[in-house]
Amino acid sequence: MRVSVVGGAGYVGGELVRLLLGHPECQLAQVTSASHRGKPVTMVHPNLRGFTDLRFVAPPDLERCDAVVVAGADEPGQGLSLDDLRGRAPLVVDCGTRLRLRHQATFRQWYGTESEPQSVLDAAVYGLPELHRAGLAGAPLISGVGCSAVGTILALLPLARAGWALTSPACVEARFGSSAGGSQPDLGSHHPERSRAVRVFAPEGHRHAAEVAQALGWSSEQLSYAGVAVEMVRGISISVRCFLAEAVTEREVRELFRATYADEPFVRLVAQRSGLHRLPDPRWLSGTNLCDVGFSLDRSGLRLSLFAALDNLGKGSAGNAIQALNCATGMDERTGLTFTGLHPL
Ligand SMILES: NC(=O)c1ccc[n+]([C@@H]2O[C@H](COP(=O)([O-])OP(=O)(O)OC[C@H]3O[C@@H](n4cnc5c(N)ncnc54)[C@H](OP(=O)(O)O)[C@@H]3O)[C@@H](O)[C@H]2O)c1
Repeated sequence: MRVSVVGGAGYVGGELVRLLLGHPECQLAQVTSASHRGKPVTMVHPNLRGFTDLRFVAPPDLERCDAVVVAGADEPGQGLSLDDLRGRAPLVVDCGTRLRLRHQATFRQWYGTESEPQSVLDAAVYGLPELHRAGLAGAPLISGVGCSAVGTILALLPLARAGWALTSPACVEARFGSSAGGSQPDLGSHHPERSRAVRVFAPEGHRHAAEVAQALGWSSEQLSYAGVAVEMVRGISISVRCFLAEAVTEREVRELFRATYADEPFVRLVAQRSGLHRLPDPRWLSGTNLCDVGFSLDRSGLRLSLFAALDNLGKGSAGNAIQALNCATGMDERTGLTFTGLHPL
């Protein structure tokens, strides 16, 4: 299967290229970059030296192929339109934000810009296999996922499915590595500002709240969602504080998580009672498509803390996009995604 990457000079694009080069059922066809066209892909992604001699092509030179994975445009009207892309491939997976929210009004409310037409939003499947595996099979248009949204959804999904009521909004704190901001520099990514940062950049109302609420069938008022920039390059660490309406036992929580994720190849329950590595840690997930989830319950049985960790460029974007592509095309969804991570790192 011939797959091309649009926006391949960015961080998500580089990870897509890396994963596709190692994918046994895919052949990397083309990689686009407007600003690097004609240059070897390895000039921008030095880790891939010796693995590809492809050169970047300009977006308009994208040829027909079996699937396109987009890691570029966030706003309609930029670069290749979705219509252009769909004209070139029967399957488009878009890692950006433009297809993630189902309704135009919700998109405008959270992103402050025009969305794709409602008919396009209606046609797209939200690309998280743990939620929409059946809908992804054969789907021609798949949306990407917000990197911290993935971890927050997977941490809260067992409770939401079981209908456990909360007495107040779930309080989310997502701690982001710098690559989550993309490769285009700004003041916040300038080394003297970003290095050793522990900076709250979204005290509340982070945009990923809209995606999480939509996925769980909640209103966004049921979440209080903060974002913090921390000293990592890859990785996201998420804590969610939940105040339950009815007390539960640790065993009930453990069984609920085990039952929810028993058959999920990329979600692991990490909730040991002791030990250095008792709860999810993004450090050991770099380069993987894994999301680790864990929990801690206080003695009252009413205060439940949930935790999640993942690689924003793995399960938070590129890895998840390949998993969704595998689901859409009927492949084993683990294909090309078996890297275990490194320890120590
Ligand atoms: N970084 C993350 O952790 C993360 C996680 C989840 C989702 N995402 C989403 O993934 C997308 C890429 O993120 P990133 O962090 O990789 O960004 P990035 O490093 O800034 O790279 C974006 C790349 O796409 C190209 N591009 C920009 N506009 C384009 C357009 N209209 N058409 C085609 N290509 C375009 C860029 O320029 P050139 O063509 O000139 O090379 C660049 O190579 C974004 O939509 C982002 O919201 C990112």
